[in-house]
Amino acid sequence: PVYQDYFFNETAYDYHDGGYVPLEVYDAPRVPLTIPSILKPDRETDTDVWLTVHAQPGETQILPGAKTKTWGYNQSLLGQTIVFRSGKTYHVTLKNSLPELTTFHWHGLDVPGPFIDGGCHAPIYPGEEKEITFTVNQPAATTWLHAHPCPLTGWDVWHGLAAMVYVEDDHEDSLALPHNYGVDDLPIVLQDRRFHEDNQWDYDADYDPDGTAGPTALINGTVNPSFDVTTQKLRLRFLDGSNRREWRLHLSDGLVMTQIASDGGLLPEPVQMTKCMLTCAERAEFIIDFSDYKAGDQVTLYSDDTPILIFNIKDFVADETTLPDKLAEISYPDVDPNALVHQVVLAGTDEEITINGLKFGMMRIDDRQEIGKTEYWDITNTNDCCGGMLHPYHMHGGSFQIVSRNGEAPYPNELGYKDTVAVNPGETVRIKMKFNFAGVFMYHCHIIEHEDGGMMAQMQVYTPEEPEKKYDLMAMDTL
Ligand code: C2O
Ligand code: CU
Repeated sequence: PVYQDYFFNETAYDYHDGGYVPLEVYDAPRVPLTIPSILKPDRETDTDVWLTVHAQPGETQILPGAKTKTWGYNQSLLGQTIVFRSGKTYHVTLKNSLPELTTFHWHGLDVPGPFIDGGCHAPIYPGEEKEITFTVNQPAATTWLHAHPCPLTGWDVWHGLAAMVYVEDDHEDSLALPHNYGVDDLPIVLQDRRFHEDNQWDYDADYDPDGTAGPTALINGTVNPSFDVTTQKLRLRFLDGSNRREWRLHLSDGLVMTQIASDGGLLPEPVQMTKCMLTCAERAEFIIDFSDYKAGDQVTLYSDDTPILIFNIKDFVADETTLPDKLAEISYPDVDPNALVHQVVLAGTDEEITINGLKFGMMRIDDRQEIGKTEYWDITNTNDCCGGMLHPYHMHGGSFQIVSRNGEAPYPNELGYKDTVAVNPGETVRIKMKFNFAGVFMYHCHIIEHEDGGMMAQMQVYTPEEPEKKYDLMAMDTL
């Protein structure tokens, strides 16, 4: 079947929110879509790779006229794309040239907490650097890197601290899928901003406790982008890197989008649809087949009714390959019988938001789970359906499997590994979670101002040998 809806509950969309900022087309010339370069390693052997990720301030020519003051990783805005190979060990130097502390959080990477994971307990102070080492061992996926200092994640990401992080593996390499970075395999970071005087951003002016948004779509840091399509098939790797916005994506002519992957990698099978909604921090990879188009045609990508990216069709060679019917084996261990079911209750809006009745406490451990055990987590959004918000729930420390939504089957495009799930108002989503590494890990709403505002908690994943291990957690007031 070709699904015709967003797999979501229309009454929960962000446009019902009082502070909703609709997208508008900005009056600026059309420009080529920026494709970030791939970060070059400092050195490598067959098994180990050394890289430097440098958080730096800069200026970026986004609009004609004044440059915008921005932050980025290894460039002035957003980041160079980092590519990891499953099985290799990475030695990453995290370097901070910003005027303030930041952290480097590997969203979607399966690594130990809390220091390598880079949540709020792993500060790098201005002018300092630190090396972390980890081995990547997970299926090919589109993950990302973003800053995560508590409670300034919203501020950091708004300035530009977000980058694509790909994981590659042999299985995904072997499939007949587009793999030519920047040609038929594109990173697409979806964000929104408001441009103030002299083309500057002003987070404080635009701040909203229910999520900061702006009217201008910023796609890979470009306004009004277009991309020249030179192949029949294009693979688009979307990341909702916005602080708050949900993207309701569809193409002109109702062109079918075939989803092949979500947060944690390939789906078991491709899923065809004409519309898809992405909520904060979610990723989705699509294959678009332009066989019905010819050189000179245009295809437009919309979010709701606003065009956000134009594809200019050029000559291309016919591509006879067909997508595999089976993409990946998704297996998640069974839940340990007698294990308790973890409860996460997301409640409220604005400053009243809570998680399990509390605000985030940096020194408080809210839940515990043993390494290697699989347990259910029930995530409940107590907002009511009309006028309530959906909360994109994210867990650090690995990927989960979605078991059910209010007891019903998950959506057809969420049968792969996920690390973020949109929980609709009035809904309980049951997930299965197993941790492969010990440590303290955050879990929270990924509307970033909800996370900063306290809709965040932390758990300790413990080993049987050291069930009470103490970590040197950072207190909030040391910021
Ligand atoms: Cu995308 Cu706590 O993170
Ligand atoms: Cu939320």
